[in-house]
Amino acid sequence: MIPKPNVLLSTEQIATRVRELGAKITEDYKGRHLVLVPILKGSFLFAADLARAIDLEDVRVDFLGLRSYGSGTESSGVVQITHDLTFSVENKDVLIVEDIVDTGLSMKYLLDNLATRKPSSVKLCSLLHKPSRTRVKMDIDYLGFTIEDHFVVGYGLDYAEKFRNLPYIGVIQS
Ligand code: IMP
Ligand code: MG
Repeated sequence: MIPKPNVLLSTEQIATRVRELGAKITEDYKGRHLVLVPILKGSFLFAADLARAIDLEDVRVDFLGLRSYGSGTESSGVVQITHDLTFSVENKDVLIVEDIVDTGLSMKYLLDNLATRKPSSVKLCSLLHKPSRTRVKMDIDYLGFTIEDHFVVGYGLDYAEKFRNLPYIGVIQS
């Protein structure tokens, strides 16, 4: 059995930050056609809370599933779309909702792919960022927290598919 992960960001800290991000997005997208694109599976809880913190009339949600191959906890940059968008985002304002930007390789792949679909704009909202591991620099338009180089789990993020249901972000005890 793996012991319970140590708390890095508590449920309350996350909830406060998600409300702040939602308020900023609400302000920035007034009068626009916003499409939230949560990246599965890791962002499912973040996106569910963020969507409810956005107070706009024209909001759609469509999911994109990504799998990035790699050895253990290291991404290789080889990315596969496991579930694609179900409607066109042409002339829409796309906001990608991601759990964590680590090396940046997955987001680089996704941004290049989305650009071919002719949205009016594409911005990135990520709950977490690990700048120490950057391989492709990403501009994160809405960022929850910058963290040190820990492998984190919970609030959607997994280790070998486990811990996604933890209500906080934790670090596995070694
Ligand atoms: P990338 O290295 O920026 O391409 O990140 C690829 C994906 O790996 C992220 O979207 C996460 O789903 C996953 N990932 C990266 N770091 C962590 C972590 O610390 N915990 C859990 N998943 C992670
Ligand atoms: Mg992810």
